Amino acid sequence: MQMNLTSKLPEVGTTIFTVMSALAQKHNAVNLSQGFPDFDGHNRLKALVSAHIEKGDNQYAPMAGLLALRETLSWKLEDQHGYGYNPESEICITAGATQAIFTAILALVHPGDEVIIIEPAYDCYAPAIKLAGGQVIRVPFDMVLRDLDTRALDEAISSKTRMIIINSPHNPSGHVISGLSMKWLEKRLEKSDIRILSDEVYEHIIFDGAQHESVIRYPGLRERSMMVSSFGKTFHTTGWKMGYCVAPTSIMNEFKKVHQFNVFCVNRPIQHALATFMKEDIGYKKLNAFYQQKRDFFCDVIKPSRFKIRPSAGTYFQVLDYSEISQDKDMDYAVKLTKEKGLASIPVSAFYAQAPEQYLLRFCFAKNEDTLIKAAEILNRL
Ligand SMILES: Cc1ncc(COP(=O)(O)O)c(C=O)c1O
Repeated sequence: MQMNLTSKLPEVGTTIFTVMSALAQKHNAVNLSQGFPDFDGHNRLKALVSAHIEKGDNQYAPMAGLLALRETLSWKLEDQHGYGYNPESEICITAGATQAIFTAILALVHPGDEVIIIEPAYDCYAPAIKLAGGQVIRVPFDMVLRDLDTRALDEAISSKTRMIIINSPHNPSGHVISGLSMKWLEKRLEKSDIRILSDEVYEHIIFDGAQHESVIRYPGLRERSMMVSSFGKTFHTTGWKMGYCVAPTSIMNEFKKVHQFNVFCVNRPIQHALATFMKEDIGYKKLNAFYQQKRDFFCDVIKPSRFKIRPSAGTYFQVLDYSEISQDKDMDYAVKLTKEKGLASIPVSAFYAQAPEQYLLRFCFAKNEDTLIKAAEILNRL
């Protein structure tokens, strides 16, 4: 019998990251598409995970996460931004930033609410908003000024706006939101109930001495925000899918109501390991320099190419403009580049509902120099 199945997300297909990574594998292409390093996490961190598994730390963790890890995070955020969240009531450990984002949206967005996202936008925001019954309002990022378009944002805010989702350093553009824009946002939302979901997974990957302008640094934003981040990005362990969310207690209480039924708790041995490792090794403070060196290396080796290069201000992505090489649509060009030249990237149009006319591909430079050189050899011949 043919049964009816009405999709809740009819317009959603397989994510571009899965599509391009599969294509890269099929054509044995150099894969600068999906955002993950081709080098491994720290040996000490891996040894700690193994030790905790051997020791028998293999049963459920507390719902919000191990207190030891929440305490370490509180200390880290205090050190980083001058504000330490209460480990008992304001921090929750999640299965990657993705689960934190999904849980945050489900917890706060009611049917009919408007949620503003800044386009180009990471692909998990809009589906989560729709599943919560919310309406997605898209505001463009200012790709010329490389900052929030505060005028467009101002116009988009309405009496129905429940939440604004910001992301800095920004995937895919590599731009960062300025302190000036954060101050503007703080003032603009002063008398409203609007919440912020701040996706800061690249908080430790910001270049040229810039300050990471977290919502945590702005009291008027902090009191209305859920900040999410990812241990995967910071410790080169994206496959572990470990992240966290911090928020004031009243918001966190709502977050946890969803979290406890969404996943209840996350990987215990890894939480033990992270709590110890982050106390022993503050190497994440050097991540900016580590990735800046990779950005500079990549931009340098592709200098002879015909791509237009504006070096990223943060993240481990570099967007390149191929308008002088081809006028193909970016999806077509990305597929062609993978199949015919052996290099996979992500078309930036995948981050829009309706992309403007532009010729942009995103390349992940979280790779060993050998991989980046191989990619450059292809790019420089185009
Ligand atoms: C902007 C942004 N947010 C969230 C995520 C998801 O992070 P995680 O792998 O910890 O779920 C990513 C991963 O690429 C990302 O780029």
